[in-house]
Amino acid sequence: MILMRRNRILRQSSAIRSMVAETKLSPSDFIVPLFIEEGNNLKVEIASMPGYYRLSLDNTVAEVKNLWSLGLRCVLLFVKCADNLKDQYGKEALNPNGLMQRSIKAIKDAVPEMVVMTDVALDPFSSDGHDGVVINGEIVNDITVDVLAQMSVSHAAAGADFVAPSDMMDGRIAAIRQALEANHFTKTGIMAYSAKYASCFYGPFRDALDSAPGFGDKKTYQMDYCNRIEAVKETLMDVEEGADIVMVKPALAYLDIIREVKNAVDIPVSAYNISGEYAMIKAAAKMGWIDENKAILETLTAIKRSGADLIATYFAKEAAMLIN
Ligand code: PBG
Repeated sequence: MILMRRNRILRQSSAIRSMVAETKLSPSDFIVPLFIEEGNNLKVEIASMPGYYRLSLDNTVAEVKNLWSLGLRCVLLFVKCADNLKDQYGKEALNPNGLMQRSIKAIKDAVPEMVVMTDVALDPFSSDGHDGVVINGEIVNDITVDVLAQMSVSHAAAGADFVAPSDMMDGRIAAIRQALEANHFTKTGIMAYSAKYASCFYGPFRDALDSAPGFGDKKTYQMDYCNRIEAVKETLMDVEEGADIVMVKPALAYLDIIREVKNAVDIPVSAYNISGEYAMIKAAAKMGWIDENKAILETLTAIKRSGADLIATYFAKEAAMLIN
């Protein structure tokens, strides 16, 4: 056979394959979600996220030093709020001495160069378990946006590098940007969860923070997974309103959306490889049905290949070790 093009030439050795690989993962691609709870020397495994833990702040600080030494450069903080501090307005979210605010300070003091992002949404603090303020069974947009803007300023005051609103209320990016400007936080970034879908794959996360909705679902604010064009609309609005980084969430069932968004914007795109996606790989690996390490690298590479510049993932540490 005479062939003028033999595509297998570029696949014949691992050296050649690594030279022509179009997508390469690096630890600095990853954003490490951290779950923090009140207490001392606590390390509590999350039942539906085997190998992932809620840590007390002392252990979190030690973990952040460890993450930095592995080449990881960014953490995304979530706190578990005690039941007795939850209320309709999520006012614990604004407590200058709240667990989130103390955590930001402690982490920035211990590892000043680590980029600290913070979750901005009311669900961990809301007695209704919704991302916004609930009045008469309705998640009320504008009142919620006001609280989220104050929450963002409070995180910025504690030293957060980026606030990451994950709530999907309308107009919150503009309100947060204005509030940051008005309070002279001109170096605080916004990573907007721009195309966040109402997904069944968030289940394990809600176990981790005990933040499942008390009634109903999140379909009146999170996006309908039937939609693609709407993701572009949501994202472009967030860019216009002042987002520095936009996000698509979840990642795996939404690789088409990541690519669509990547093609539409001129700022970095992140994707959230969420808790249910983590749990599925862990479960199959535990059953011996897939090779966990290979599944992690293939999954994260696919997310990056689809257009994500940054990936929030519970596999960050394992992946960094595999890459190193
Ligand atoms: C809520 C929030 C959720 C996640 C991050 N922030 C869950 C939800 O919207 O109900 C999910 C992350 C994950 O599943 O890993 N503001």
